[in-house]
Amino acid sequence: MTAAALTALPGASAELTSRLQEGLSAVEVRLRQVVDHDDPFIARASSHLIEGGKRFRPMLTLLAAELGEGRSDDVVDAATGVELTHMASLYHDDVMDEADVRHGIPSANATYDNSTAILVGDLLFGKASEIVAGLGSEAVLIQAQTFVRLCAGQIQDDRQAPAGADPMQHYLQVLADKTGVLIATAARYGAKFGRCPESTVDLMREYGELVGMVFQLSDDILDITSDQEQSGKTPGTDLREGVATLPVLYARASQDPADARLQELLAGELTDDALHAETLGLLRQHEAIDQAREHTIGLAQRAADLIGTLGAGDAQDALRGLPLAVAHRTT
Ligand code: IPE
Ligand code: IPE
Ligand code: MG
Ligand code: MG
Ligand code: MG
Repeated sequence: MTAAALTALPGASAELTSRLQEGLSAVEVRLRQVVDHDDPFIARASSHLIEGGKRFRPMLTLLAAELGEGRSDDVVDAATGVELTHMASLYHDDVMDEADVRHGIPSANATYDNSTAILVGDLLFGKASEIVAGLGSEAVLIQAQTFVRLCAGQIQDDRQAPAGADPMQHYLQVLADKTGVLIATAARYGAKFGRCPESTVDLMREYGELVGMVFQLSDDILDITSDQEQSGKTPGTDLREGVATLPVLYARASQDPADARLQELLAGELTDDALHAETLGLLRQHEAIDQAREHTIGLAQRAADLIGTLGAGDAQDALRGLPLAVAHRTT
């Protein structure tokens, strides 16, 4: 699991990789301490998703800290707080997306029920706040503002774009909110608790938000192109739930008469298994996937370019390579 996050770091030196690996091990220890609970049922339900996560966000916190003084207890706590917030959001996301599978096992809502998944998600948000409280009031404010934007993004994700809004712009804003902001906070906390100058903290926040958008765009492409073995999730969940991701928006915008059937399918509900499978099959071969990938690569390039102002170093090299690796990720 920790290895998975590090495979996204193709340019990292052996020393940097090993320091990050140690940091991720410290995060694992802390995570397990925090999700434990006196009540065995609560302890079990709270650790339902602890195995099998990629730990991308804590890896980014640890890497951003390498721009400054590197790992400390505060950096590890910040990384753990971010991962707990992420994990909590997955409990809630699987309720809203009616997802049955996550990390290759039945989701919390499928294993228990919606109420338990929602309440355990809330409990984990509480645990995240508890750990962030030890980092000072500014960190708590950042956590609170991050959480508000994440929830606003998830609320918008569950609704149609407002009338008159440009669907592409609207979608990119939802994505920045639901996913970009937490990854921005992961990078920002890393630089902040690594004691980097304020200008670097701000730059890492901007970088993290772009990387977060790239991360979600890749996730949306993988929802169409990958199989359950690869992703540990059910492919085509976005189509079934009516979430119009970038490939769908490109396919809808196509002027090619050959796309009439796909566009007809995309205009309707895709809860019927046969219609869903037909749509997924047509989308998988459609150039909309390449168009979405191109867009993703453009954002990744913008993120990589930001690192140019940070001078030379191992962490800078890894941060420069990361966005494109995320754009091309397969898990
Ligand atoms: C899934 O995030 C939710 C998104 C924002 C796309 P991850 O793909 O990082 O999930 P885990 O932690 O590895 O399961
Ligand atoms: C989830 O987006 C974003 C958050 C959890 C905030 P998705 O719904 O695409 O995530 P997956 O694909 O279920 O992991
Ligand atoms: Mg989902
Ligand atoms: Mg979702
Ligand atoms: Mg998804």
